[in-house]
Amino acid sequence: MDDLKAYAKAQASRVDRALGRFLPSANTRPKTLHEAMRYSVFAGGKRLRPILCLAAAEACGGDDELALPAACAVECVHTYSLIHDDLPCMDDDDLRRGKPTNHKVYGEAVAVLAGDALLTLAFEIAGQGRPARRYTAADMVHDLAVTAGSRHLVGGQVLDIEGEGAGLGARELRFIHESKTAALLTCAVRLGAMSAGATPAKLAALTEFGRATGLAFQVIDDILDVTAPSERLGKSAGKDEATDKATYPAIHGLEKSRKEAARLTRKAIGALKPFGRRGARLEEIAHYLLDRDY
Ligand code: IPE
Ligand code: IPE
Ligand code: MG
Ligand code: MG
Ligand code: MG
Repeated sequence: MDDLKAYAKAQASRVDRALGRFLPSANTRPKTLHEAMRYSVFAGGKRLRPILCLAAAEACGGDDELALPAACAVECVHTYSLIHDDLPCMDDDDLRRGKPTNHKVYGEAVAVLAGDALLTLAFEIAGQGRPARRYTAADMVHDLAVTAGSRHLVGGQVLDIEGEGAGLGARELRFIHESKTAALLTCAVRLGAMSAGATPAKLAALTEFGRATGLAFQVIDDILDVTAPSERLGKSAGKDEATDKATYPAIHGLEKSRKEAARLTRKAIGALKPFGRRGARLEEIAHYLLDRDY
């Protein structure tokens, strides 16, 4: 565990340094926009998706340096999705990553545009990826675009908003969580694998790993919204119940939700079989994501 913590910290710093280079400096015109983009990117995210991306590249026997552009691109999509998720017309949140939300600091117009610019920047960065073999940067850009688009992340966000107070069932909720959250975690590991030139069989195994651990991730996010304090989460807790969101605890209760997250984590770890010892890091990360308290 200590080893995992040190690994995650080191990988997060590498990602931060790379993001610092990929993002235009805060002095670039228009200053407000670039400041706003950097504000949310460097507000203190856990960098779990980039860490997964780099670990997936390693599991496939690749040099994780080649996965850095993909890792940063995924983090840009994620941060954009958070800025927009927090807007008054969406989840209406004041706190994110322990700081006032982007629109609270820069106003709604700049927050919307900073999100747009981060989403666009993600493709600029992903296009710079130079996968080892088998795949091209265009394959990676395509994967990221499909993931971020209307059939996955954005579609999931629409269903999430429409699902407020709608009394959704378990299957609909699962689809929302797979779309709004699991898809991007899956994409993170897929891009890592592609940058390492993974065989189709290994790419398929990591896709299964990403889907299961990604769904578990959102189930835990739902649980933490009920059980953890805002100070620990760095975002306002208790919001889901207040807005009558469709969540795992709301539909299944806390106990069953925890069991489901654990089952999904076991399923994810099962998918790592073809990697043998090389899957050990991803396995550790999956356990960590399940047991996290923020
Ligand atoms: C929060 O993701 C949004 C969800 C998809 C649940 P994270 O918990 O990874 O947020 P950061 O990046 O650490 O802020
Ligand atoms: C977030 O879901 C999903 C995306 C941002 C795509 P939530 O709305 O549950 O995330 P938090 O709890 O605000 O971080
Ligand atoms: Mg939301
Ligand atoms: Mg939210
Ligand atoms: Mg949440």
